[in-house]
Amino acid sequence: MDPFALFQQWFSTAQQDPRLGDASACTLASASKEGRPSARMVLLKEASERGFVFYTNYGSRKGQELSNNPWAALCFYWWSLGRQVRIEGRVELLSPTESDAYFASRPRQSQLGAWASPQSQPCTPKLLSRRFAAVSREFAEQKIPRPAFWGGWRLLAERLEFWQAGEARLHDRQCYERFATGWRCQQLFP
Ligand SMILES: Cc1cc2nc3c(=O)[nH]c(=O)nc-3n(C[C@H](O)[C@H](O)[C@H](O)COP(=O)(O)O)c2cc1C
Repeated sequence: MDPFALFQQWFSTAQQDPRLGDASACTLASASKEGRPSARMVLLKEASERGFVFYTNYGSRKGQELSNNPWAALCFYWWSLGRQVRIEGRVELLSPTESDAYFASRPRQSQLGAWASPQSQPCTPKLLSRRFAAVSREFAEQKIPRPAFWGGWRLLAERLEFWQAGEARLHDRQCYERFATGWRCQQLFP
């Protein structure tokens, strides 16, 4: 099976599992130009052969790291199913039109939040609510445009690994790697 079809199958099973709060939550790892890694949670918003899409502030720590070093990784853990999926590859920016469309679909509070938060910059206790109130006044009754500093990234997968917990730690790992000729799938020792 091709790895995207398999991802869709596992993702859909995870989304239907009431024990999982949000199956789209995953860890995003990026690294500085010098190779120093950092990781945080993001929400996956689109998954297809075109890539795996998440949204964020382009000026945030992750945004700066991804701009300077496009190699990134995503990791999902669906504990109730005993499943982990790891995805690695390069990221590219979504087109402004694609980011605009997603931003327009978000609740107004989230749109204001994007404007109010220079993500990853130092903050003080009241600064965020003050900034939120200020942008709420500024955009009162108006359609809120997408800030140019906020939008999506698409991870173009070159390696996907599907891990299924097994009895007595005999876990199953299927690793797909992209070659010029297509995908190669290899089982790995757990
Ligand atoms: C479950 C969960 C989902 C999150 N989703 C996102 C997201 O989609 N985009 C985002 O920018 N931050 C998201 N965050 C916040 C990030 O984990 C992180 O705190 C923030 O983006 C700043 O990271 P940075 O300083 O490394 O750039 C999420 C946090 C949690 C706990």
